[in-house]
Amino acid sequence: MNDIGTVIERIGEFRTHPLGFFYLLDKGVEGMSARVHVWLPAGSDRPENDRHQHSFDIHSTVRLGRMQSELFHFLETPGRGEQEFSVSYLDGKSILSATGRSGFLDPISRFDSRAGDSYFLQAGVIHRVAVVDRPCVTVLQTFEKGIPIYSYGSDAEEAPFERRLADVYEKDELMRVLKLVAD
Ligand SMILES: [Fe+2]
Repeated sequence: MNDIGTVIERIGEFRTHPLGFFYLLDKGVEGMSARVHVWLPAGSDRPENDRHQHSFDIHSTVRLGRMQSELFHFLETPGRGEQEFSVSYLDGKSILSATGRSGFLDPISRFDSRAGDSYFLQAGVIHRVAVVDRPCVTVLQTFEKGIPIYSYGSDAEEAPFERRLADVYEKDELMRVLKLVAD
């Protein structure tokens, strides 16, 4: 996946992600995966999503653009604050269900990453990413830790999101952006 030429050959496998980017996923052995995330030029500037965490450790390298990451602690405060949702996957869709816990998300760190920068995010650490400069491309290696996935927000429920394949127009755009970082 570090070879962008190989990624371009697989442009037809990119899918939409609920956080607003397109991704290509290679499942490896023993819980390791390689991923490429692409944010196309015409996207919103707001943070891509509410805060969430992952079941895997992440090594991420920014190849194009710039993003800002924020990390949080969840402080449970029954009946107040934001809701916690557990995230599950079924038939290519991601589904959020309220866990009944609520609380505040206390910021613990914030950092910027631009082309050439790498960072490590441990499984279970709550974060959110805002893409500052588009288009943006990141190459990731993930290591599955098998812990539950949560996301946080104030919406009661979120509709299931279908991770569809990129359409013809989106594939052209992905190709154009990936050529900017081809080795
Ligand atoms: Fe994330």
